[in-house]
Amino acid sequence: MKVAVIGLGTMGPGIAATLARAGMTVTSFDVSADQRAKAPELQKQANGVLAALGVPDRTVAEPAIADTLAAACRGAEMVVETVPEKLDIKAAVFKEIDAAVSKDCVIASNTSGIPISKLQSNVSNPGRVVGMHWSNPAHVIPMIEVIAGDKTDARMVQWMVDTIKGLGLLPVVVQKDVPGFVENRILYALLRECVDLVEKGVIDAEGLDTCVSWGIGYKLSVIGPMALLDMAGLDIYNAVGSYLNADLNNRADVAPYVTERIKQGKLGMKTGGGIFSYTPEQVGQLRGQRAKKLVAVRKALES
Ligand SMILES: NC(=O)c1ccc[n+]([C@@H]2O[C@H](COP(=O)([O-])OP(=O)(O)OC[C@H]3O[C@@H](n4cnc5c(N)ncnc54)[C@H](O)[C@@H]3O)[C@@H](O)[C@H]2O)c1
Repeated sequence: MKVAVIGLGTMGPGIAATLARAGMTVTSFDVSADQRAKAPELQKQANGVLAALGVPDRTVAEPAIADTLAAACRGAEMVVETVPEKLDIKAAVFKEIDAAVSKDCVIASNTSGIPISKLQSNVSNPGRVVGMHWSNPAHVIPMIEVIAGDKTDARMVQWMVDTIKGLGLLPVVVQKDVPGFVENRILYALLRECVDLVEKGVIDAEGLDTCVSWGIGYKLSVIGPMALLDMAGLDIYNAVGSYLNADLNNRADVAPYVTERIKQGKLGMKTGGGIFSYTPEQVGQLRGQRAKKLVAVRKALES
């Protein structure tokens, strides 16, 4: 299958590498010449991680980079849009893609949570627009959410499910086009409570990470939340939830703990610090260590 990946930022190179290794002919494009120049090395690194994961190598052609969106999309049977999470940018890119592809070409969006129904109004044949929400790092996390918008053809959802299974990955169908879909609704509910606990001084940031990673996180990667409810007992959940739910954080805005840091230019690893501080060497080391550990954990979970 011939595929175009539009956007080569954090997500695009990993997606392109995964699709190419599965035997698809992939051509990518990014509006930034800088990102286009960096992409081949990033794709190579992602392919190295895929090899370490033991993903079969069905490469027909190395992923290519085009100089224009139209050239990337020429002859494509599927386009994966992965440009910034801003509706106006995505709407403009959808119009460009629509003008560059055939009427039947599948248009998939990697949006983290913009309803697919809002995106499909920008194309001539909205039935072929579908959400294909990869998790970061795209070449490591095997679960992909599939989301239909109001006008998505039901056969399109099944096609995407089969395509993801063909990649050896795990499709999950989100049955309602709600903001944030499922993965990010859950992640953001968790992050809101984590930030609140640290902000209130209930625990420090290091302690919070140890508690979640080695308590809940480790367990959840083996036993999903619904299975965990059964394991703990619904009566126990009822007993605890009946007093605890009312005490959990439910603020609608983002906590000052985060917004104050943003005002100071502390955005996280990309600026040398956010909640924790990082030297450039530490950033490189952490990325390497985390990739290695994620590979080891995925292999263990698949065994
Ligand atoms: N970063 C994550 O953890 C993550 C996880 C899952 C999904 N997503 C979603 O994936 C999408 C991309 O996220 P990202 O983190 O890779 O963003 P990013 O900002 O790192 O990369 C986006 C890229 O798109 C390019 N771009 C902007 N306008 C363009 C245009 N008109 N044509 C072509 N390229 C254009 C930018 O130059 C940039 O390189 C977003 O919808 C995001 O919500 C991100």
